[in-house]
Amino acid sequence: MCGIIGYTGKNDAKEIMLDALELLEYRGYDSAGIALLGEEGTRIYKRAGRVKDLRDLCAKEDPKGCCGIGHTRWATHGGVCDENAHPHRFGRITLIHNGIIENYRELTEKYGLEGKLASETDSEVVAAVLERFYDGDPYSAIRRTVLKLKGTFALAILFDDQPGKIFAVRNVSPIVAAATKDGAILSSDVAAIVPFTTDYFVMPEFHVVCLSADGIEMFDLSGDKAQIDWLKVDWDVSRSSKGGYPFFMEKEIMEQPQVIEETILPRIKDGKPDFSEEGIPDQILSDCKRICVIACGTAMHAGLVGKSLIQAMIGIHVDVVMASEFMYNDPIVDKETLVIAISQSGETIDTLEALKFARKCGSPSISIVNVKGASIARASEYVIYTNAGPEIAVASTKAYTTQLAVLYLITARMAMARGLWSEQELADYVKELSRVPRVMEEVLSQKEEIHRLAGTILNAKDVFMIGRGLDYSILLEGSLKLKEVSYIHSEAYASGELKHGTIALITEDTPVVAVVTQDKLKSKELSNIREVQSRGARVLLLIKENEVLEDDERFANVFRLPVMADAFMVMPASVVLQFIAYFVSLDKGLDVDKPRNLAKVVTVE
Ligand code: M6R
Repeated sequence: MCGIIGYTGKNDAKEIMLDALELLEYRGYDSAGIALLGEEGTRIYKRAGRVKDLRDLCAKEDPKGCCGIGHTRWATHGGVCDENAHPHRFGRITLIHNGIIENYRELTEKYGLEGKLASETDSEVVAAVLERFYDGDPYSAIRRTVLKLKGTFALAILFDDQPGKIFAVRNVSPIVAAATKDGAILSSDVAAIVPFTTDYFVMPEFHVVCLSADGIEMFDLSGDKAQIDWLKVDWDVSRSSKGGYPFFMEKEIMEQPQVIEETILPRIKDGKPDFSEEGIPDQILSDCKRICVIACGTAMHAGLVGKSLIQAMIGIHVDVVMASEFMYNDPIVDKETLVIAISQSGETIDTLEALKFARKCGSPSISIVNVKGASIARASEYVIYTNAGPEIAVASTKAYTTQLAVLYLITARMAMARGLWSEQELADYVKELSRVPRVMEEVLSQKEEIHRLAGTILNAKDVFMIGRGLDYSILLEGSLKLKEVSYIHSEAYASGELKHGTIALITEDTPVVAVVTQDKLKSKELSNIREVQSRGARVLLLIKENEVLEDDERFANVFRLPVMADAFMVMPASVVLQFIAYFVSLDKGLDVDKPRNLAKVVTVE
């Protein structure tokens, strides 16, 4: 979704912004633009296409200026064309916007803007309203405008007669800001700030920030100066580079043993899971009668694994709800329901809104978030950060497995808090969890074998992925990965459901990926595999390395997974499925990190 950058200081703002927009490309976008406020007034360069096209456009004139704003647009209102790209200008106002202004039509009518706007966007309407209210006092114009807006917005604004200054205000859509050595910077995303500094802050909603070469000032909407709460990024710039890999997705898959270790180890004290750093009281884990996980996409799939673990090991009911559907099903959450919101970015709007609703209903809440200080982290009562570092590839990999790592820890702490496990049971569980990084390394070392296996589905039009129970949950994620990056239609199917219709679609042209990792499900899963093989399907099987396959001549393509306790087999199996998707995309020559139409951060409903 839209990326925002703003820089003011002593250096060439154009170069800083273009570099930052490249760092923000991963969010997903279709157009890019910058505006420079300099001695020659305000100059705008924008176009549909990639940041490199914008760079070419700027190179022709090489505009100079030390203050500017830049944007990558992911179209919502109005098609993909140069006019709709940001920045937008109306009168003395130039702005960039992330979010959706729901009442832009009413504002267009109210302020007689019909026929006066150059674009079809809701964002330009905000510039026009600001122009209407601007009488030389930017704060007052922003305050009066914001009170008229309905919807979500992160706005960075230049006023023609306020040289060297960038103003910003937001509601829901994020903005982070930081002081640099010689000025100040703001962005939708910490990734663009990391090359300058590790100290930053998340702008509070409905506050106005002013950036200048002298630093940053913040005021609330009544005009009172507000205090800034500084945070520290705990990853370095190298974490945001490809580190020699052709794509971020490969780098991020390979990083998993390290980041899982970094997620688990600080939370194991005296051999026991421990959330004292997060301040999470045991009571919240022991007293809840049920759990409701809210999340989207991959994060929701992590929730499904969590559900299997918690229901099996703790014996309480867990619902996993797609956050985008949460509000449409008359959600039943109350003070006895522990809500767990899972999100890599911490900005997914559906998850954020669902979480806010649950909190209003009195539910205690824990969020599992990767990006520090993100909206979901701040909206929940407690937060457990996954220490995955920046995840740049649109397809989530290391965020998923670190989310799982946190869910394993929560399950164990919950068992402790409820007195369900003996010391020995807890020790065995923690020991197995601590093995995960090494087991993953074992799988990663077989990357070439997985590449060969991926070749067996490279030319498929449709793929089915079958399994039961936990294996099915893993496959839902494996199937999403494949669809996302390879554009092959893939369906994860609970193998027991095949006979209820879908088996009709299985032919010799439909490869089937099957995962068999759970002892109690093995015989049923193998029968289902035989059923699809009888219909001509070629099966790519993932199974534990110690399993004996009676009729192994039927399986030409088998990946043998290192053995863990069944509950943990999700981890090695997931790595294989991630790599299968990656290699198919790579061998198709696709842009693995930036699949078409997808955005890394989904900040609109
Ligand atoms: O940032 P979040 O974890 O809240 O994002 C949720 C989904 O948009 C995300 O997991 C998406 O499904 C990924 N692209 C999947 O790889």
